Amino acid sequence: MKFQLSSLEEYQTAYAESVSHPENFWNAIAEHFQWRTKWNRTLEWNFNAPDVQWFIGGKLNITENCLDRHLAAKGDQTALIWEANDPNEISKTYTYSQLLREVSRMANVLKKMGVQKGDRVCIYMPMIPELSFAVLACARIGAIHSVVFAGFSAASVADRINDSQCAFVLTSDGMYRGAKQIPVKAVVDEALATCPSVQKALVVNRLNWPVVMATPRDVWYHEALDGVDDFCEAEVMDSEDPLFILYTSGSTGKPKGVVHTCGGYMVYAGYSFANVFQYRANEIFWCTADIGWVTGHSYILYGPLLNGATTMMFEGVPTWPDPGRFWQVIDKHHVNLFYTAPTAIRSLMAAGIDHVLPYNLHSLRVLGSVGEPINEEAWHWYHTHIGKGRCEVVDTWWQTETGGIMISALAGITPSKPAHAGLPLPGIQPILVDAEGHEILGNEVEGYLCMRFPWPSILRTTYGDHERCRINYFSTYANLYFTGDGARRDSDGLYRIIGRVDDVINVSGHRFGTAEIENAINQNKKVIESAVVGYPHDIKGQGIYAYIILADATQGSDETRDEIIETVCEQIGRIAKPDKIQFVSGLPKTRSGKIMRRILRKVAEGELHALGDTTTLLDPLVVEEIKAGAL
Ligand code: WT7
Repeated sequence: MKFQLSSLEEYQTAYAESVSHPENFWNAIAEHFQWRTKWNRTLEWNFNAPDVQWFIGGKLNITENCLDRHLAAKGDQTALIWEANDPNEISKTYTYSQLLREVSRMANVLKKMGVQKGDRVCIYMPMIPELSFAVLACARIGAIHSVVFAGFSAASVADRINDSQCAFVLTSDGMYRGAKQIPVKAVVDEALATCPSVQKALVVNRLNWPVVMATPRDVWYHEALDGVDDFCEAEVMDSEDPLFILYTSGSTGKPKGVVHTCGGYMVYAGYSFANVFQYRANEIFWCTADIGWVTGHSYILYGPLLNGATTMMFEGVPTWPDPGRFWQVIDKHHVNLFYTAPTAIRSLMAAGIDHVLPYNLHSLRVLGSVGEPINEEAWHWYHTHIGKGRCEVVDTWWQTETGGIMISALAGITPSKPAHAGLPLPGIQPILVDAEGHEILGNEVEGYLCMRFPWPSILRTTYGDHERCRINYFSTYANLYFTGDGARRDSDGLYRIIGRVDDVINVSGHRFGTAEIENAINQNKKVIESAVVGYPHDIKGQGIYAYIILADATQGSDETRDEIIETVCEQIGRIAKPDKIQFVSGLPKTRSGKIMRRILRKVAEGELHALGDTTTLLDPLVVEEIKAGAL
């Protein structure tokens, strides 16, 4: 079985084989990786438990596949390019042998700190090279990394550390973000006040920010490096040993720790990268995501490195020093494959073509989109003004839980259609079902998007709470993995993702549960109750609209709004700030006390005359008040 498909016929053959003989198919794909011991059974699965295992009995280390394996042929080829926040700061590059050395040194520092196989390590760092070293160093020694995006608040960091009982935290003094300098270590300090499991913190010096080092807990990375060896032997891992935990929001409760395992994740991250982007030797791949999200895990680090590619990480933001920064970086580094989010495309589109025109973008060959549905206008702008009409565009649908891209065009091979993710990758078996879970057959249909068969990088559990994993993904429809998305299948069988059908909202490609934001808002002492819904937002995809009941209705001022926003920043982080806050005296509830979100969503969308049946409400007058005060 060819690892990288190169024609539509090859795709069709591979897809057919992957459905008729999935074990044979994945055996052949997995053979392309380096295993210390080969697996003896390919797959055991049961979606009801759920219990999924791939490449059972196989032994490997993913970093040997990302690094050591390439040394003979590509030791001197660039593995990682790092572009700083400030365009005037010199960029850094690491060859495959240099990257292995850096990862080994970090791994040896971790060992010296006492990190052992199976320990959970929280990584809360900006996009600096040491973040990549840290992730891979954990994998090298069999520690389970839990990367937390550096925009989350101290309270969020603490929740995540406590949930998975991390004994170690890796961080930095501070970070650059556009023109700003932001404390990072201080956030960790605040978090650690409520994290008794943490024994040691390792601190990278990025900007000479004055920080308080607690001894003996806190250690400077540059000091810890003193005398460590340049090579670290890789720990031999079982296919099903956890590789990482990554927290993501669901429709209820606190964010949950999605668990991915070594063997299956490796196979799928490597396979999906090679095929979706059609990576060719010596090309430069740039994914603009933060490593704090799954996109960064799979397509800045693991996917590209597994393929011996050159991957770039960028510390900065798309709009600083000006909205031409992405295009300038593509020009500077001759980027061939570029992967970003619709929200970034829309905001740069709004900034105007004058920020694009000064740059030479002829190196580009493939453009990718991820994180939320891309509207046709943004798709066409991307294709025309960035791709100059000659680049392939891939709209890649997947989730933290899927570990890798599930539905997408394979660049230049399978059809790409504006606003459509397209066909499933080989090994992926999507199905649309109705509310009762009955399969919706045929084309030009719409339904709930599920998967009927496991793929190697399906989540194995949610950390410490397997029942929650079962309820969230495997209990809605028997024997199916439920994605939480609605989708259409067009006349050619291409999938178009409509969006979430649960109480999850997608703001600039970031996922939040409405309940999670409500809980944060309710921490403000002035608030009695709140209800949050998403509404269409030109740049962010969805904006956050909060309806809030105050204890004292006379306090509904801008000042109170600011205080509530501040509370959300403290509880979750700046990325979860409500865009609109409407103070109300009551919420539309049914007689059984359930909030009718449908009505709140309609009002937030500005559809004041299409509210549907409101006769079952406890107090229909509330709706009139809400309509009158709509923002
Ligand atoms: C949700 C997953 C793993 C990608 C980064 C976000 C939405 C993701 C697309 C796309 C339409 C998309 C879905 C999905 N989504 N990609 N190409 N088209 N919607 O990962 O935070 O786990 O969110 O993002 O709603 O369920 P995530």
